[in-house]
Amino acid sequence: MVAVSEGSARLGVRLNVRGVSHAFDLEGAALPVLDDIDLDVQPGEFVALLGPSGCGKSTLLRLVAGLETPDRGLIEADGIAVTRPDPSRILVFQDPTLYPWRTVRDNVALGLQARGLLRRDGARIDDALQRVGLTAFGSAYPHQLSGGMAQRAALARALVNDPRILILDEPLGKLDSLTRLAMQSELVDLWQRSGVTALLVTHDVEEALFLATRIVVLSDRPARIKDELINDLPYPRHRGDPRIADLRRRALSLLGLAATW
Ligand SMILES: Nc1ncnc2c1ncn2[C@@H]1O[C@H](COP(=O)(O)OP(=O)(O)OP(=O)(O)O)[C@@H](O)[C@H]1O
Ligand SMILES: [Mg+2]
Repeated sequence: MVAVSEGSARLGVRLNVRGVSHAFDLEGAALPVLDDIDLDVQPGEFVALLGPSGCGKSTLLRLVAGLETPDRGLIEADGIAVTRPDPSRILVFQDPTLYPWRTVRDNVALGLQARGLLRRDGARIDDALQRVGLTAFGSAYPHQLSGGMAQRAALARALVNDPRILILDEPLGKLDSLTRLAMQSELVDLWQRSGVTALLVTHDVEEALFLATRIVVLSDRPARIKDELINDLPYPRHRGDPRIADLRRRALSLLGLAATW
């Protein structure tokens, strides 16, 4: 039997992004997207990336996940160059992308298959479902889930591998605001219990402030690191905390929105 806390014994990964630049080809011309990004994330840290739409946030996450290789620079996980995807570095998207013809359990099992482990490793699957509160829905199909539950199933598919870093690309972006608030608390809980490193892209300044220990603000494309804010407020955080309001003001000002707030 796999203990619920199995993952907590393993610390999160240390991530080093060194001098990373990347461009895409757009109708024969180079479109620079990332410009000399340096970012060090300590094990167990929760870093949120904020930046204008289209500046290169998802691209950076894809590089960290090993789905693409940077044109220049180096990305290391625990000192080892990232050259390809690995189940220890799971990317979770806005869209849960569950297979509609498979049960929740079988969708989660796919995460294990990706890792080459036995698909029927029931204890691991039970553990992952429990961690996201879907124990009672293992045999449900995706169309029988709410949006928040589908997103939790996608998280379970990532967690089943005991990842050491969660790479989250607007994972709550499509949820209604109430579900979103509830899921934010659940994410904090999951992150704290597992000890994993988390790298989150969000458009929601409040969400970044509620979740992250550090907020990195990116410029317009090509993205450069503009500045960062440390958020050392203890958890659970309170949205009405005046210190959150102060951080919000600073984050918005870095995003160039100071005049409207
Ligand atoms: N595979 C690709 N080929 C060509 N251009 C791409 C590719 N992927 C992304 N781009 C371009 O790179 C730029 C950055 O895209 P990216 O998805 O990283 O932005 P983003 O910051 O995540 O934006 P958003 O906040 O809207 O999600 C965009 O101009 C996009 O058109
Ligand atoms: Mg994006």
